[in-house]
Amino acid sequence: MIILFDSTYFLTRSQDLSQYLISIYRDIHKFPELSLEEKRTSSKVAEELKKFGLKVRERVGGYGVIGHLKGGKEKPIIALRADMDALPIEEETGLPFSSQNPGVMHACGHDVHTTILLGAARILSEIKDHLPGSAEFIFQPAEETSSGAKAMISEGILDEVDEIYGFHNLPTLETGKIAIKYGAMMGSVDKIEFSVTGRGGHGAIPDMSIDPIVASSAIISGIQSIISREISPFEPAVITIGSINGGSSYNIIPSEVRIEGTVRTLDSEIRRKIEERLKELIGGIASSYRCLAMINYINMIPPLVNWDNNVDYLKRAASEILGEENCIEAKPILTGEDFTLYLEKKPGCFFWLGSKPTDGKEVSGLHSPKYRIDESCIPLGTAILTKLAYTRIGNIST
Ligand code: NI
Repeated sequence: MIILFDSTYFLTRSQDLSQYLISIYRDIHKFPELSLEEKRTSSKVAEELKKFGLKVRERVGGYGVIGHLKGGKEKPIIALRADMDALPIEEETGLPFSSQNPGVMHACGHDVHTTILLGAARILSEIKDHLPGSAEFIFQPAEETSSGAKAMISEGILDEVDEIYGFHNLPTLETGKIAIKYGAMMGSVDKIEFSVTGRGGHGAIPDMSIDPIVASSAIISGIQSIISREISPFEPAVITIGSINGGSSYNIIPSEVRIEGTVRTLDSEIRRKIEERLKELIGGIASSYRCLAMINYINMIPPLVNWDNNVDYLKRAASEILGEENCIEAKPILTGEDFTLYLEKKPGCFFWLGSKPTDGKEVSGLHSPKYRIDESCIPLGTAILTKLAYTRIGNIST
């Protein structure tokens, strides 16, 4: 006999597991690992998934792990994804379970995501006899370097998946709330690297040189006019130069300057236009200063665009767990998230899970050395994901 489970069941069960979940979270938090080095974290994940009776694939696209939970039938397959990597930051939270790895910290909360997904795997595995289809739990490495999703997808992990859902905690959003929007929610991520070459010489005899530093400063100022003069003020777009390297002494004109930056936008057409205009302007300004520019423009990830129907499914599940008034409209942001690569291939959506601490201390954002969360967001996230996956497994006919 198939038993039906409601949102109260998922919320209660997630809360019952709080202690277990928080101990997993604190353990992962204590031993953070950088992108592409998630060895301990991934073996812990695999070990837990095996305890729940899931079929486990390890070393997928690096240290990626996939847990497959087969219900009554193989299809549909609803996938849920979390990321596992940490950041090169020295933790300053003073928490009793602070990082034991010097210079490495879970400052983006991927430990929270991994824990929540393990919770969902455990709860759904307990009711697998009552699931008409299957669930897939994707534990991704190397999100911070925007390489993990690509590596896992290239191993064919999405081929059989029908829908995919992902999320990120947000310490500036109250715990007990989620935020999501239809359409484009997060930015594309591109990288630009270029060199400006002139002719080196004595700083006191500029007429004998061709100064790439002066040319570079004109380029750096000039390219901002793409945003201010060529893109509609109603379209979000950013060009940031984050690194300039050139010269070795106050009195020498160097022969070359190397510059790196990033381009972000929510729209694919604008993304292409900025790339084209950057190349023209950098090349043109450099040559007008008698320098030569060599440009390497790298398309990393496209904008994250949610699928409308899947946003509806998520909102419905989250409303049942948190109350409709706690599911709010997300503001778009130009930070990137490689979850976008899954959404290019399969229907799904990505949402923000409130994780704001309630300890009265100042809130620190993602990637801050003082970043911390309210642990009660963990069972709430688990309840939302289980409710969502359970409902979708039952609602897709294949
Ligand atoms: Ni993150």
